[in-house]
Amino acid sequence: MLNGAGRRFWVARPFGIPLHFEEKRRKNMTAASHEFMDIRQEIAGIPVVELARQFGTPTFVYDGRLIQRRINDLRVFDTIRYAQKANSNLAVLDLVRREGVLVDAVSAGEVGRAKAAGYVPGGEPPAIVYTADIFDREALDLVVAEGIHVNCGSPDMIAQYGERAPGGEITLRINPGFGHGHSQKTNTGGEQSKHGIWHDQVAECLALASRYDLKIAGLHMHIGSGTDLEHLSQVCGALERVALEIGATIKAISAGGGLPTPYRVSDVRVDIDAYFQLWNATRSRLQDAFGHAVHLEIEPGRYLVAESGYLVAEIRAVKRMGGNTFYLLDAGFNNLARPILYGAYHPMSIAAADGATTLERQAVVVGGPLCESGDIFTQSDGGFVGSRELPRAKVGDYLVIECAGAYGFAMGSNYNSKPLAAEVLITPSGTPHLARRRQSFDDLIRGESIPG
Ligand code: LLP
Repeated sequence: MLNGAGRRFWVARPFGIPLHFEEKRRKNMTAASHEFMDIRQEIAGIPVVELARQFGTPTFVYDGRLIQRRINDLRVFDTIRYAQKANSNLAVLDLVRREGVLVDAVSAGEVGRAKAAGYVPGGEPPAIVYTADIFDREALDLVVAEGIHVNCGSPDMIAQYGERAPGGEITLRINPGFGHGHSQKTNTGGEQSKHGIWHDQVAECLALASRYDLKIAGLHMHIGSGTDLEHLSQVCGALERVALEIGATIKAISAGGGLPTPYRVSDVRVDIDAYFQLWNATRSRLQDAFGHAVHLEIEPGRYLVAESGYLVAEIRAVKRMGGNTFYLLDAGFNNLARPILYGAYHPMSIAAADGATTLERQAVVVGGPLCESGDIFTQSDGGFVGSRELPRAKVGDYLVIECAGAYGFAMGSNYNSKPLAAEVLITPSGTPHLARRRQSFDDLIRGESIPG
């Protein structure tokens, strides 16, 4: 396989990985991989049954220590910038901030969250970067008022920002003309994507920026979420070409996010070191060309938080439909939308209320409480209902949907007037902290009114 720079490169698959990478991969896997198991008695040392009884269900539980480990994997990059869209709970933001991780924001709300978690706008590199394809009016007012660095994904953003804040520095997000994701819905490159500035419009953008005396200090590419290293590695070459076209005003480059994370036993953790080496080589060539230091950022969301998260739900009905057995939970796609949106696979486990561990397995369909037939966690892309071999369980037992820390709570909704779930962070010192209380009925109707 050839990467953008024309070197031989490996693919993140269990077979065909060169031996020296294979050795490192095994070390990584054993060091801190998600432990796949279909009976789970504890999360970060705390019994699931205790967590469920103390905080109720459905509840997202995050293992703070695991987030720290995933951050540590990436320390080789100059800056780790957390894409908080994956999980923007303030307790999670605070944890990553204390680890020295900077933050990305895609809305005025996310800028507000970053500030509420202790990030202070400004700095070098900027603590908070606003990355989007548009400014809504609220966001434009906010970034100008707070001096938030902006990463422009459209020529219109450059013009609108330049009008309001001429003379500063901006970053450009470029669409390199290709992309890749775990689903077509998470592919953010190519002509079908709305994201970024098309790669052949760079000269136009330079002219636009100079009209407002804006300096292009950063360059960013993000081709998709849940992609693989084969595709991610192609970004280096594309970014290098655009950077050379822009020239020596560039002080920082960002590899974007998109790092995959294991959801299945067979998934292999990415070789961060090999990925870094590719980017570092690109950065070095740019430094040589520009004659000054170039800062290298990575912008992960999923990689930092996916494995840390567990959605703990209670089984409220076990019923038979012809030949199928259904476990129906008190959590639905209002809590975790990834299966209905992408046919995404999440590992699942059972925590028996009586602590039983030697349980027989059976094929079950796992669904939620919503009044919609798509409310099924064991479905594949296209809405095809599938089943999972899980321990035999009864009403009152708990089912844990695992690897749910990224794009889980963050994409939750109040559909069917269900309250948003509670969130619990188990702090790195092992204390369960209620990071968000479950919504109440008053929360559900807040802001609504009846005329007259
Ligand atoms: N940077 C930018 C500009 C992005 O658009 C995203 C994700 C990221 C970074 C972080 O990507 P990550 O490292 O998490 O792959 N809801 C989907 C994922 C949508 C991702 C949107 N953008 C899912 O549940 O899979």
